[in-house]
Amino acid sequence: MPYRLTVIGTGYLGVTHAACMADLGYDVLALDIDAEKIRRLRNGELPIHEPGLETVLRRGLGSGRLRFTTSYEEVAEFGDVHFLALGTPQKHGEYAADTSYLDASIESLAPHLTRECLIVGKSTVPVGTAARLADKIARLAPIGAQAELAWNPEFLREGRAVQDTFAPDRIVIGVRSERAEKVLREVYEPLGEVPMVVTDFATSELVKTAANSFLATKISFINAMAEVCEAAHADVRQLAEALSYDDRIGGKFLNAGLGFGGGCLPKDIRAFMARAGELGADQALTFLREVDAINMRRRARMVDLARELAGGSFQGCTVGVLGAAFKPDSDDIRDSPALDVAVTISQQGGRVTVYDPIALDNARKAHPQLAYGESALEALRGAHVVLLLTEWQEFVELDPEVAGAAVAQRRIVDGRNALDASAWRTAGWHYRALGRP
Ligand code: UDX
Repeated sequence: MPYRLTVIGTGYLGVTHAACMADLGYDVLALDIDAEKIRRLRNGELPIHEPGLETVLRRGLGSGRLRFTTSYEEVAEFGDVHFLALGTPQKHGEYAADTSYLDASIESLAPHLTRECLIVGKSTVPVGTAARLADKIARLAPIGAQAELAWNPEFLREGRAVQDTFAPDRIVIGVRSERAEKVLREVYEPLGEVPMVVTDFATSELVKTAANSFLATKISFINAMAEVCEAAHADVRQLAEALSYDDRIGGKFLNAGLGFGGGCLPKDIRAFMARAGELGADQALTFLREVDAINMRRRARMVDLARELAGGSFQGCTVGVLGAAFKPDSDDIRDSPALDVAVTISQQGGRVTVYDPIALDNARKAHPQLAYGESALEALRGAHVVLLLTEWQEFVELDPEVAGAAVAQRRIVDGRNALDASAWRTAGWHYRALGRP
């Protein structure tokens, strides 16, 4: 392999990228400033749940190609290509993204750069960040222009991170030189034929926020249709199916329900609006405010439906909640619609018991005031109302008769349109769903 790689930041993105690159045959050194995290990664323990990733991680450790460190000096000495995979969370009390982790990593790395290298940003950032960081590298790196920056946004989905890394839909790179383009083309060569868009910094940064804005808009579009369906006694699932046969529209991301959450879509559309405002282009993105509002209204509608089924008030009502993760196959509870609903109902007096196949520990830490069950049936025990809020396969396969034997009243709101309504109704359940009669 022509290059030695480093990955700075071992969050979702970083640990996936590091492990997968080592699997492709590269020598990879990954850094985090969290020493405990590095200790665990060295032992093959993942800080997150991600199907298939632990195997790839352990293979990398076993082969000796994947190593972990907390030392920027070591990283600077080792790497030809340094990938930046740091988080850019929403700033407290603001819409804007906080890029300070990226700044801090450049400030720690650049002063040690004494050999030619390419620094490659993978984080989702406000447009203009790459140009700013390039200036910073030029100011701080002893090697000067031989430490160059490129931008290479990452599009992986949680729950499919390994697949998405090995077989991406496309690779986007923002570069300022032919050398940077050549290096990145070579780095990704082992992935085989993948469409590659080579562009400038600003465009590469914008592709990512535009993609996430489009996805969020598609979800909020179908959820807006769900609102109308509710008012008109129509069925949003059938509506979505009929739309999906038009291949200009397609069927993906048209699942109406509780809406989007997670560490990306909600914060990215907000950060995008904030950045557009700074650039004087806020009018172009006012529709995203509506996308966000539609999304948040679904959570409120879910609480209203649950209250209705509870008989008008949550006082004295036991609510069984299925799902805590922001989506299935993930233990991520960041901006989870499910937990948002659970917390609101508990604040309104409901006795809420939550179950999730793998996000339970994270939920418990974040919301110790809620009760938790160790199984779906335990969460349903004695419930007056059941809410399906994350569509785990385990819940889709729940037997309505078995579930019915656990609850006090057979009343369910399917917040993800995931259950077989007629099977639940046949089993005597009062079944309601978002966007359907
Ligand atoms: C997203 C993008 O898909 C990915 O390309 C980007 O790199 C990061 O952000 P992720 O946050 O992992 O990925 O989740 P995704 O699968 O996109 O789902 C986001 C949210 O939308 C989830 O809460 C999901 O439940 C919801 N969703 C998705 C719907 O409500 N309806 C749909 O039809 C699809």
